[in-house]
Amino acid sequence: MSVVAGFHADPALSFTLPARTYTDPAQYQRERQEIFGRSWLYAGHGGVARARLGPLGFANEDPAAPPFATVLGDLEREVRAYCPELDRLVFSRRVSYEVRGNWKNSVDNFLECYHCHVAHSDFCDLVDMTTYRSICHRYYSSHCGRSRGTSSRAYSYAQRDRATDFGSWFLWPNLCLEVFPGAPNLNTFHHVPTGPETTRHVFDFFFENPTPTPEQESAIRYIDQVLQVEDIALVESVQRGLHSLGYNQGRFIVDPGRTDMSEHAVHHFHALVVAALAGAD
Ligand SMILES: [Fe+2]
Repeated sequence: MSVVAGFHADPALSFTLPARTYTDPAQYQRERQEIFGRSWLYAGHGGVARARLGPLGFANEDPAAPPFATVLGDLEREVRAYCPELDRLVFSRRVSYEVRGNWKNSVDNFLECYHCHVAHSDFCDLVDMTTYRSICHRYYSSHCGRSRGTSSRAYSYAQRDRATDFGSWFLWPNLCLEVFPGAPNLNTFHHVPTGPETTRHVFDFFFENPTPTPEQESAIRYIDQVLQVEDIALVESVQRGLHSLGYNQGRFIVDPGRTDMSEHAVHHFHALVVAALAGAD
């Protein structure tokens, strides 16, 4: 099955990946081999890792893979700008979710906030969506916005003497990182493929102490009981829709301002999928 049908380098002219690439077992096996067998993958927070980003370890099965620093680009600098305490952070908690959706569907959902106004009203009370921008780089994309204040319907946090904005990043192929407003923190949002139509979301939370503060507990509770509930429902609904006989490919909403209303970062991800599978087509 070709993944390149209808695909264009310009997101405004491109179609999305075909529906069957989100459901087909043979496609899934190709992706395991060509993407997950050749990419730098998050390997947890402990033990020996071939590469590190703060407390996060990474591994790559392919000895011919490009160096981790090449894939990372400016990502580390960006993360440190949002969390200068990165090297002081320690593992606190892991929370995981079993999702009935293909891993690409799950990543797609992370990469646009077009749905945020409708699906995440508390998130939009926490983050000023007029400042939210998605910026694409070679192997990662940044999705950041200013905090609207220390008190929100999502959770509240104490005033600090430094910026406490929302930063989130996607690193090819399946790791997302988030820094939430509040005391120094970082969490993974790892989209782990477990089958053609199933994905495990793994959130590892890192703080300055292993035991979360009450403020951090409230942030975890918001992510666990509100944000994840909202997003998993969306991903699973999209997965059911991908089986519709009337749907094959969609188009991207592209805002030249790269705002929260634009899906160009989803196209950026699809371009990486297309490139990774090009040799296997
Ligand atoms: Fe979402």
